Amino acid sequence: MENMLHLAPSQALPMDRTIFLREQLPQAISAAASLPVIDMSRSSDEVRRAILDAGMEFGFFLVVNHGIPEEVMRDMAEVCEEFFQLPAADKAYMYSEDRHKPNRIFSGTTYETGGEKYWRDCLRLACPFPVGDGTRDWPHTPQRLRGVIEHFTTLTRGVGMELLQLLSEAMGIRPDYFEGDISSGDVVLNINHYPPCPNPEKTLGLPPHCDRNLITLLLPGSVYGLDVAYKGEWIKVEPMPGAFIVNFGQQLEVVTNGLLKSIEHRVVTSSTLARTAVATFIMPTPDCLIGPAKEFVAEDKPPCYRTVRFRDFMRIYNVVKLGSSVNLTTDLKNVQKEI
Ligand code: OGA
Ligand code: NI
Repeated sequence: MENMLHLAPSQALPMDRTIFLREQLPQAISAAASLPVIDMSRSSDEVRRAILDAGMEFGFFLVVNHGIPEEVMRDMAEVCEEFFQLPAADKAYMYSEDRHKPNRIFSGTTYETGGEKYWRDCLRLACPFPVGDGTRDWPHTPQRLRGVIEHFTTLTRGVGMELLQLLSEAMGIRPDYFEGDISSGDVVLNINHYPPCPNPEKTLGLPPHCDRNLITLLLPGSVYGLDVAYKGEWIKVEPMPGAFIVNFGQQLEVVTNGLLKSIEHRVVTSSTLARTAVATFIMPTPDCLIGPAKEFVAEDKPPCYRTVRFRDFMRIYNVVKLGSSVNLTTDLKNVQKEI
C-alpha cells in the first residue's frame, strides 16, 4: 500500500481508489494474434510497407532497431521507477486534480468515467519543442530526472516523426505531411505506475480507450499489462526488451478519413507485480484545425469526420463507455456529430 499516491494529507485513504467496475471484465486471450514487430534497420521500402500493413491490420505494432540507444531507454525506465519510489511526502508538491495543469501527478484516468476509478498513478509532463525552460515545472528529484526525460523525449519524438514520414510515403502523400501544427504541440508524457492490485479481476489500470493525439510510442517496461482490441477480443501485448509499442491516435484516423484506425486498448493490473510504462504522445497544437485531408476524400469517399480544432476535440471527446467490452467500440463518428 505504501507506494500508492493519494499524497496530500487530505486525500482519501488508498483503499478508496478501489471502486470496482460494474461488470466482470472480459479476459484477454493469450497472444493468439501477436502484434507485428517492425525492424527499422531494414530497407525503407520494407519498413514503409510493414508499417502500413501493420497499421491497417492492427493499428498497433512494435518497433525495434529504432536507433535510440539502450541506455537511454534503460535510464528512462529507471528514473521513472525511482520517482514513484520516492516517499509520498517528496512527491506531494506535484499532486493536482486540475486537468488543465500540464505537469502534475494524479491517480486514475482523466476520461469521464461516471465515478469509476482506475488503478493507476500518473506523472503527466508536457515537453515543448524547442524545450527552452519548458521543464521548469517538472519534478526536481531524483536529480537526474529532468535531463533523462528531456533526452528520452527528444529522441522518442524523433522516432515518431520518422514513422509518420514513412507512413506518409507508404500512403503516397507528401513525406512531410505530418510536419507543422499537426505534430508540433507539446509532447505529452504519461508516466504510468500501476501498483500491485488486490483485485486484478475486478479493477483495471486504465479503461478501454483510444488515444486522442496523432501517434503514441509506449515504453512498456518489463511487465505485461497492455491489452489491445482485435477482431472483437482483447489480445495481450507482451513487452519486448528494447522495443516501443506504437499506436495511431484519433487525429491520424480523422486526417486519413478512416483509412488508418485508432484502436482501443486497456491496461490490466497484477496482484503481485508493480508496472511502470511511459506513453509519449505526439500532439497537434491546440489551435490546429483537423479534418479529413483532401488526399483521402473523393466522390465515392465522402468525409467521414468533421473538421474541428484540436482543443475542441479534446474537450468534447472525453468520455469512455463504462463496463466496456470490445463490442462497445469507441464511436468516433457519432461523438463528432455532437460537437
Ligand atoms: C495511455 C496508455 C498504456 C500503458 O497512457 O494512454 O494507454 O501500458 N498507456 O500504460
Ligand atoms: Ni492509451
